[in-house]
Amino acid sequence: MKTIIELGCGDGVLINRLSKMYKNYLLVGIELSNEKFQNSVNLVAAKNVKLINDSFENIVPKLENNSIDKFLAILPDPKYIDLRNQNSWKNFYVKVFEKLEKNGVLIIITEITNELLNPVSQEQYNSEINKIEHIFRSIGFKTVHVSHNYPSIYSTNLLKKFSKDPDRIKIVFYKFLK
Ligand SMILES: C[S@@+](CC[C@H](N)C(=O)[O-])C[C@H]1O[C@@H](n2cnc3c(N)ncnc32)[C@H](O)[C@@H]1O
Repeated sequence: MKTIIELGCGDGVLINRLSKMYKNYLLVGIELSNEKFQNSVNLVAAKNVKLINDSFENIVPKLENNSIDKFLAILPDPKYIDLRNQNSWKNFYVKVFEKLEKNGVLIIITEITNELLNPVSQEQYNSEINKIEHIFRSIGFKTVHVSHNYPSIYSTNLLKKFSKDPDRIKIVFYKFLK
């Protein structure tokens, strides 16, 4: 069965939406916070969704290699995307790469902010999005798409909230391919 995994599915809004669009897929949402996991459980009723209350760092390595169609990371915790911590998170995405099937997709939507929460300049934005892309390419991912706008199917409540302050919270959408 084709499988999509959401890393850090939060309140479950996205996986709930996707479960209705991808009826023939298995959708797996992994969420560490007990409270958010419970919110997802309360929201999602579809049979093709499996919700797991654990760290994706525990779950992903146990998956079969070359078996997953798509991973989604929508607004990952900075621990898993912040450039200053790249040595601690890069290996996790190496695992994600191994688990994806050939031509499998990794979607990442993340925010670029200024340390002092000042407006983010175009230079800072371009520099950071290029550095992040470079890290994923060094793992082996091919870039399909990088843009400021993200497809509306991936929107979450938090993403909508962040999008209300576009000067200080700039969004970047990446689509990578194995
Ligand atoms: C910024 S929130 C984004 C949530 C959701 N994707 C959204 O857009 O609303 C990051 C989420 O990742 C979860 N998280 C952080 N580290 C995790 C881990 N190691 N394993 C699973 N979930 C994790 C957090 O509990 C939180 O719900």
